[in-house]
Amino acid sequence: MTPGEQLAAFLRHVAQTSDSPLALVVERAEGSTLHVAGGRQYLDLLAGIGVAALGHGNQRVLDAIAAQAARHLHVMVYGELVQETQVALAARLASLLPAGLGCVYFTNSGTEAVEGALKLARKATGRSWLMSFHGGFHGDTLGSVSVGGNPLYKTPFEPLLPNVTQIAFNDLSALQHIDERYAGVIVEPVQAEAGVVLPAPGYLAALRKRCTEVGALLIFDEVITGLGRTGTLFAFEQHEAVPDVLVLAKALGGGLPLGAFVASRKLLSCLAHDPALAHVTTFGGHPLSCAAGLAALEVILEEKLPGRAARVGNWLVDKLRRRLPPPAVVGIRHAGLLIGIEMQSPALASAFTAACRSEGLLLGWTLHDDKVVRLAPPLVISEAELDEASLRMERALARVLAPTKTARS
Ligand SMILES: Cc1ncc(COP(=O)(O)O)c(C=O)c1O
Repeated sequence: MTPGEQLAAFLRHVAQTSDSPLALVVERAEGSTLHVAGGRQYLDLLAGIGVAALGHGNQRVLDAIAAQAARHLHVMVYGELVQETQVALAARLASLLPAGLGCVYFTNSGTEAVEGALKLARKATGRSWLMSFHGGFHGDTLGSVSVGGNPLYKTPFEPLLPNVTQIAFNDLSALQHIDERYAGVIVEPVQAEAGVVLPAPGYLAALRKRCTEVGALLIFDEVITGLGRTGTLFAFEQHEAVPDVLVLAKALGGGLPLGAFVASRKLLSCLAHDPALAHVTTFGGHPLSCAAGLAALEVILEEKLPGRAARVGNWLVDKLRRRLPPPAVVGIRHAGLLIGIEMQSPALASAFTAACRSEGLLLGWTLHDDKVVRLAPPLVISEAELDEASLRMERALARVLAPTKTARS
């Protein structure tokens, strides 16, 4: 197919998620660069929305996939057979987590892991109520939408799960609404789609305390923050708050689809009884995904990428604050290499994003705050690439702010 034919088929036969897809025709991806049809290159500052932590085409990940493909692909539904890459990844994750997070239930995606965590909270506590936060995002299946924090994306799909409430993020007094009726509370340690909103100091610890007081399970959704992006392997490590259930996905599969919810063995065992097989998945923990994920995790650890994300994130944001000054840019928030650039208006954010694209930069939106432009580059992206990116962003902003030329000028 020619690039033009691919684009036409994409628009005609691939279901669309909006009227304005990026619609770049991908040729290949390498490191932090996306090569598209026509010989154009984009510096990838989104990493597939946080998936490609090692950039594109990491050799160790590719080798692990090839070795596993030669050995076996899918052999049985999740939970029946002992598959080496799956158990090795579960054991490695457990070795990196506190004792109460020693058992992993693998899924195919983030939203599926969220669904599992919500079901676990209800079954383990025998309670039905679920609490989440305004601005939160947990995926697009019905349970995840029910705990989502933006009515715009919920209303068209109502009725959703009953007994779900939302409170304001970072509001200590609102924690009193979490009481003994609640099975679980789900929260992103950094609210990404809300526009990269960081927890206030002590907030997640206070939330932990409240959940313990009332016996509700605390679920941290680290689908985007996990695996090093925010400066530690898991974002919760920065907050003196260990969850009862940890949800992972995105970077977990090293570029292949993989999610997980992690808890204690005792807690997760309630999904295996009364009745048995009440929560199963065909493809969850696919051997290829686990092989890729295990290789990626080892590289993340060996190359100390969480620490690098913290250091390079600070360095980049410092640069961006000088190159993207107020008033057009209201502020820049970040946790490691999860960065939100808040612009003066949605129109400016959209024009800036488009101008960046014409400068060969791929960066993007956040779902719940259209004034905020998000960066989530590969954790391995070089300082030279980021310096170049920040210069192009400076140029893009200047172009967007330049007075429109009249026909006579
Ligand atoms: C915090 C968070 N949770 C859950 C999800 C859903 O993950 P998935 O798209 O893999 O279903 C996302 C996806 O962006 C996310 O950012």
